[in-house]
Amino acid sequence: MRLLRKEKMLVDVLITVENLTRVYGRGALAVQALAVNRLTVFRGDFVAVTGPSGCGKTTLLNLLGALDRPTGGVILFAGKKITTLGERALCRYRREKVGFIFQDYCLLPTLNAFQNVLAPAFPLLNGRGARRARARAEELLHLVGLAGKEHRRPGELSGGEQQRVAIARALLLDPELVLADEPTGNLDSTMGEEVINLLKKLNEGGKTVVVATHNQRVAEICQRHIKLRDGRVVADEFIN
Ligand SMILES: Nc1ncnc2c1ncn2[C@@H]1O[C@H](COP(=O)(O)OP(=O)(O)OP(=O)(O)O)[C@@H](O)[C@H]1O
Ligand SMILES: [Mg+2]
Repeated sequence: MRLLRKEKMLVDVLITVENLTRVYGRGALAVQALAVNRLTVFRGDFVAVTGPSGCGKTTLLNLLGALDRPTGGVILFAGKKITTLGERALCRYRREKVGFIFQDYCLLPTLNAFQNVLAPAFPLLNGRGARRARARAEELLHLVGLAGKEHRRPGELSGGEQQRVAIARALLLDPELVLADEPTGNLDSTMGEEVINLLKKLNEGGKTVVVATHNQRVAEICQRHIKLRDGRVVADEFIN
């Protein structure tokens, strides 16, 4: 079984990056934040992206999730070029293929936990998927250990609980890729550990997870380390 999974990982490419660059600003103020010649993410990967502050981790994740467009180069997702998609197709890509988890959770403060988890499905809620999405939101809140707290707003939850709401939200539409940018950055070690364990569980359930992190614990449980420095990949190692 294990072997099968390994073999599958080796052949099953989810993302290919070629000559990807991102330059912020223009002229004398231009900053080359990223220059990645080639990078492949396999289905089922659990990747830690590490490196010093300013090395390009957030830039890379934002490009993979199409929150930002590159200055040059190509990203293929499941064989399809996302770097040339129009705005509407990109929106769909972000909503259907990618789940985002951010350091500061990015929950909507006026919505309760259940509504926050359901938010990615709001555009679909008039359709037949409404009941299914609600049931799924309920199920995910259970999965992240927040059953009974569905009606609390973010301000009535701890940081760790808020991050778990954000994780449930990221999973609502069952994305193939989960991108987490410093997901434990605002959490103490106990709450951070809960979030780390959840990410591990997601990966064990088959999700491809890419985490940008300074947290040594996160890096330890990932199967693969990609180290960046000055926007370039300086190491890419499978460790587990
Ligand atoms: N919007 C922007 N405009 C100009 N420069 C930017 C912008 N965003 C990032 N940068 C620069 O690009 C480089 C990479 O930034 P990025 O945020 O990707 O780093 P990071 O590895 O995520 O850092 P951290 O660990 O502090 O989160 C840095 O030099 C940063 O100052
Ligand atoms: Mg960052």
